[in-house]
Amino acid sequence: MAEKRIVILISGRGSNMGAILGAGLPARIAAVISNEPKARGLELARAHHVETAVVNHRRYPERADFEAALGAEIDRHQPDLVIMAGFMRILAPAFVERYRGRIMNIHPSLLPAFPGLDTHRRALEAGVRVHGCTVHFVNAALDNGPIIIQAAVPVQPGDTEERLAARVLAEEHRIYPQAIRWFCEGRIKLGRAGAVDVDTPPGPDTALASPPVETH
Ligand code: GRF
Repeated sequence: MAEKRIVILISGRGSNMGAILGAGLPARIAAVISNEPKARGLELARAHHVETAVVNHRRYPERADFEAALGAEIDRHQPDLVIMAGFMRILAPAFVERYRGRIMNIHPSLLPAFPGLDTHRRALEAGVRVHGCTVHFVNAALDNGPIIIQAAVPVQPGDTEERLAARVLAEEHRIYPQAIRWFCEGRIKLGRAGAVDVDTPPGPDTALASPPVETH
């Protein structure tokens, strides 16, 4: 199978991007593109000798013009897969449609719970016992595309937003490279109805409970 080409979109720190670059994936990271000229992740990408580009949304008065420029920059690298890794712009349905089945996002909640921003604060306010993160294909609805993989973490007594975010982020760094590896290996199928089938052996059938269930 030919090596897959990947373009990563970022807006900030780029820790998920860093996890992906460091994961030894059977893929070529063709470029990292940021809409924020000062995104910290750009330096990290350069340190990994990955080509970088900036498409600054502020330079385009209309969203459609920004998306046309972004699309042109992405397509220049002929990617098989586009990865949104902390990319903080909402993309119009027409843009997303163009990459259907080959654009992924990571979201810091167990979707469909808590789409949108401030997920950790909202999870704490809601009093959920289990929180987590989701890798999904992107579709026209915000944070609502077909789910590929999720990881759950317990909410601990006395958790702050920061502590919970750090616990979730550690899982993000595990599941995003995994999802991309499956894609590169041709093991992800996106069904017509929108459900994802991953061709991988079943793991141990254990449940995560938080607080943990006591054994007697
Ligand atoms: C992550 O929590 C990701 O789930 C969300 O934005 C954050 C980006 O962090 N979409 P980083 O830039 O990957 O460090």
